Amino acid sequence: MAKSVPISVSEDYYQISEAVLSSFPKYRLPLDLFVLDEKTVQLLPYYKKDHRLSNEQVEELHKLCQESLLFVSRTDHPIYSQHIIKQLDLVLVDANLKEGEVADIIIQALDLKLADFFAQPVKILFQPLFDDCHVFTEYLWEDRHRIKLFLRRLYQGEHKLTRHSINTLIVGLWLFINAKAEELLRREFDYMALGLLLHDVGMTKVPPPVLNKETQLKQDEKSKIPPHVLNGMQILQKMDLSAAEVKAACLEHHERCDGSGYPQKLKSQQISMIGSIAAVADSFSAMIQKRPYAGAKTLLDAGNELMSDNASYDRRFGTALYTALVTNSF
Ligand SMILES: [Fe+2]
Ligand SMILES: [Fe+2]
Repeated sequence: MAKSVPISVSEDYYQISEAVLSSFPKYRLPLDLFVLDEKTVQLLPYYKKDHRLSNEQVEELHKLCQESLLFVSRTDHPIYSQHIIKQLDLVLVDANLKEGEVADIIIQALDLKLADFFAQPVKILFQPLFDDCHVFTEYLWEDRHRIKLFLRRLYQGEHKLTRHSINTLIVGLWLFINAKAEELLRREFDYMALGLLLHDVGMTKVPPPVLNKETQLKQDEKSKIPPHVLNGMQILQKMDLSAAEVKAACLEHHERCDGSGYPQKLKSQQISMIGSIAAVADSFSAMIQKRPYAGAKTLLDAGNELMSDNASYDRRFGTALYTALVTNSF
């Protein structure tokens, strides 16, 4: 195929795996490919993006790939990552992506699938979200320290329900990993992640003029918010989600230690550990985004506020979060 000036193998190019190559359209690929010349150990341009391949060329391409001779350029990374976002499980088999790149791709994929599901919370749109959440937990299960990559990527822009949910997932899962330590079980880890991600799913039933209002809500509009908890529980039921972790994160994230929360006005001892973690993660995530009624707080200010408010939040989790922020262990 293409012949041109040789290029030295470097960090700027990465090998493409058979799994990734097979996930592209068979006859027309959206990015350039390079082949390794084993004699000179240099890369030669091999395929120019969007060119139509013959059956023989497709065969040759896969053969080169199986021999580990096929590379892509990092300049095509945006195309490559956009492709992987749609088939997220590929990040688990792609050894060439840097950890930060994987974290960015996972966050973008969750944001996309969550937006689809929140726009229409039905089973057919739940499955892709469930699958991507599972890729996320699988990636963390391989190495739990990877949660720090995600903590460094907390979204602090204008309020967006999808990004608020992802922030809550990241912070809550970090608290959960810390709290459970060696006792962490895979099944509860998966469902805890899903529960945190879906804790506000009932907000999709709040009328859009209230949900998207850019100024402070009036009293009658504020009254439309608390039902999101029980509406969320109904949506979970429709999705056949009955795992205790998912239900507790959704039902208890607005409960407060002194009984001032909702919907059940539970007190400290009655709130589950999952509910307590979800409350801290949810409030922290709300504070660090700009909202119509308040500006965005810094991570440190938000952590400090949660740690100091013992009437509302479980001291253990507020303190763990603040300590991590102060000692820069994120
Ligand atoms: Fe909520
Ligand atoms: Fe929330």
